[in-house]
Amino acid sequence: MTARIVQDGPLIIGGGLAGLSAALETAPRPTLVATPAPLLQACSSAWAQGGVAAALTASDTPELHAADTAAAGAGLVDPEAARALTAEGRATVEWLVRLGAPFDRDAAGGFAVSREAAHSRPRVARVGGDGAGRAILSALVAAVRAAPHVQIWEDARLRGLLQDADGRVRGALIECGGRLVEVIAPAVVLATGGAGGLYARTTTPTALLGEGMALAWQAGAEILDPEFVQFHPTAIDVGLDPMPLATEALRGEGARLVDHAGAYLLGAAADADLAPRDVVARAVHAARSDGRGAFLDARAAVGAHFPEAFPAVFAACMRAGLDPREEPIPVAAAAHYHMGGIAADLDGRTTLPGLFAVGECAAAGVHGANRLASNSLLEAAAFGRRTGRAAAAEFAGGGRIPPARRPAPDLQPRPLARLRLAMSELAGVIRTGPGLTNLIATLDQLDAGRVPALPSVAARLIAEAALARRESRGGHYRADFPEAAAEARHTRLRQPALVPAE
Ligand code: SIN
Repeated sequence: MTARIVQDGPLIIGGGLAGLSAALETAPRPTLVATPAPLLQACSSAWAQGGVAAALTASDTPELHAADTAAAGAGLVDPEAARALTAEGRATVEWLVRLGAPFDRDAAGGFAVSREAAHSRPRVARVGGDGAGRAILSALVAAVRAAPHVQIWEDARLRGLLQDADGRVRGALIECGGRLVEVIAPAVVLATGGAGGLYARTTTPTALLGEGMALAWQAGAEILDPEFVQFHPTAIDVGLDPMPLATEALRGEGARLVDHAGAYLLGAAADADLAPRDVVARAVHAARSDGRGAFLDARAAVGAHFPEAFPAVFAACMRAGLDPREEPIPVAAAAHYHMGGIAADLDGRTTLPGLFAVGECAAAGVHGANRLASNSLLEAAAFGRRTGRAAAAEFAGGGRIPPARRPAPDLQPRPLARLRLAMSELAGVIRTGPGLTNLIATLDQLDAGRVPALPSVAARLIAEAALARRESRGGHYRADFPEAAAEARHTRLRQPALVPAE
């Protein structure tokens, strides 16, 4: 029999930067954080290398940061969301400092900032060279573990959402230590991360399979722009899954993208390699597809300083037997970030009462078709805090709470490897109508005669929306529709538009 517990404050699903930032702001409401793995493991936040984008220098302003965010997003950024995010940049970084995140400092004691693609100013605040994610998350983990209002379940997977007859989300079904538990809560916050694991080539933990988005979709929440997946151009290609990342800050320091003959992939201009991420990803993809190969050459720009300046990238290369001081790093484009997701407002409210979403699983309007580098940690912390405060203000309604409709039938599609390969080949850097149609047929075959597993549902949302978007914009490139449409439009999906109801 399924146990039921009643929680007098928010239930937060996910232990990355967004979920923990939310949890710290819910005090004094008792808050339960449920995460499938021990904190610091299996979330993308801990793997982030670049840092936190924020206007922190005299030559920068939140308005300039908002303008860069909107330009990168290719017509689909919500200006109000970009203003809200960038206005909170400095306060968010200072909050992280107060929690103990040891941001790098310049000679004058200010924040050391680096430049990344499509930023008009150097504004990425770094921590420990390329160790921002782990250092920041470690500070939050310590704070959350010390917070008396927070309880943490670290072997707890989301299996379903509990809704009352009006569709209001009243809790979640959690599989914890092998047992199913219905957790009744006045607010459920999804902070479940992205969907990079749906791709065979990814820089994210492979366990991130879009389940939060899939469950929200099945519950009737609006999904926004799921076709927009960002591919990072410099995943280190040494046969590992997931692929280690070579941070864009390396190109900010002058490292260059070259082919195996040493010719520049994006031209000789000094800042050519700092073009928007989708442009660079396509250049890398093209060079590999036509046999020229793609390499990141940091020998001249970083050279002997590599171990101190970029310790995480250095260690990843050395583990693979590659010394980046001596030789160029082989790179490939890989799925890195999901811009689309569960439609949410600036306080994480979704279209379903009682359900909140924040961080990579959410689409709150700040990334549009292409996320500006290092805006993700800022969004996770800044909007995480806002979402925590909003969720803490929710109180349970009355009325009977029916049992879960039923647990999601399966977390892993069969076979996942085939789905991942098909996603990388057919919904990757370059997409076509026939390729996406073929992908959907493959998903149909994988699901034939069975209730689709959650990753299949997430993959189908991406594939069907990519097929319907007959243009190229930001991270979504259609070789058969290479131009952007005159008008930028969102994709808004609600059942039963795409996935047949069970
Ligand atoms: C990077 O360091 O290149 C990744 C930063 C990001 O994805 O925002």
